[in-house]
Amino acid sequence: MIDGFGRHITYVRLSVTDRCNLRCRYCMAEAMTFVPRKDLLEIDELAALADLFIARGVNRIRLTGGEPLVRKGIERLARELGARLGRGLDELTMTTNGTQLVRFARPLADAGMRRINVSLDSRDPDRFRQITRGGDVHEVLAGLAAAAGAGLRIKINMVALSGVNEDEISPMLRWCASEGHDLTLIETMPLGAVEEDRTERYLPLSGVRARLESEFRLIPSPARTGGPARYFDVDRLGVRLGFITPLTGNFCEGCNRVRVTATGTVFGCLGHDQNVELRDLLRSGSRATVNAALDRLLAGKPKGHDFHIGAREPAVARHMSVTGG
Ligand SMILES: C[S@@+](CC[C@H](N)C(=O)[O-])C[C@H]1O[C@@H](n2cnc3c(N)ncnc32)[C@H](O)[C@@H]1O
Ligand code: SF4
Repeated sequence: MIDGFGRHITYVRLSVTDRCNLRCRYCMAEAMTFVPRKDLLEIDELAALADLFIARGVNRIRLTGGEPLVRKGIERLARELGARLGRGLDELTMTTNGTQLVRFARPLADAGMRRINVSLDSRDPDRFRQITRGGDVHEVLAGLAAAAGAGLRIKINMVALSGVNEDEISPMLRWCASEGHDLTLIETMPLGAVEEDRTERYLPLSGVRARLESEFRLIPSPARTGGPARYFDVDRLGVRLGFITPLTGNFCEGCNRVRVTATGTVFGCLGHDQNVELRDLLRSGSRATVNAALDRLLAGKPKGHDFHIGAREPAVARHMSVTGG
């Protein structure tokens, strides 16, 4: 799949549900209205859609949400997609809040998953509960231990929140080093239906990086994912540190991805409404019409996004928050 700017699309982020057991303040409102279950793609439809992408050259799929591990049938989906590894698919990964990993880490590893991203904004129980509106950090920590025990490599995603977890960034980096995890810091983005004024919590990572550089030597890493992260190796700690800076950095020129919502809408860009609806096409059973819709998406995939504080929320945000790749 090649878009109108010659970019090869090889990576798909597939949301398997819009539901979540947490309510992170920057991501969801306390009282969320989720889409009716019948509107979600069935597990078989998700697998069929993944097959179609793989047939068109996609070699990495990340399962996400909402919280992917609250989706009924997620184990079967992981197994089915895992069976495509080495047969077109090079990597199957997941972004999860980690609360269900005690149960699911082993089945995910058995399905062929090798790495996962786990979101953790604070290791302090009270703070974690506050940020997630009720979450228990011990579940995440136990989930991380289970994931490591199952042999999964772990990258922690931490949203940097001004006045909330700023003081935990450096300790989190040291903790990740001691646990053998990588760490990626994320700037808050104008995404999701939330009640809070996110401008108050916006913490530019340029400043965070400068502060970390007074403490650690950050060596720019050539590692690139085609995604929004820039990586550094942290001298002496042996940790890779990523920065996802949609508001202070531009990363669109190398974009290799599209995003599929749990209802089968495919978005070409996180910051634009341009999309195609695949669910009904998948249900009517014609591969050719699905492929034609994907061709339309590729032809119109925007060159880049234009986030800024106070920006209008793009439509994709009403379906999925889509960072932390
Ligand atoms: C939407 S979650 C979905 C997967 C899973 N529930 C989790 O939390 O990892 C994916 C990532 O997006 C991040 N995220 C959600 N809303 C965001 C926002 N407004 N700005 C920046 N990152 C956000 C989360 O912290 C998480 O790392
Ligand atoms: S960031 Fe993830 S865990 Fe938090 S509310 Fe959003 S989907 Fe749920």
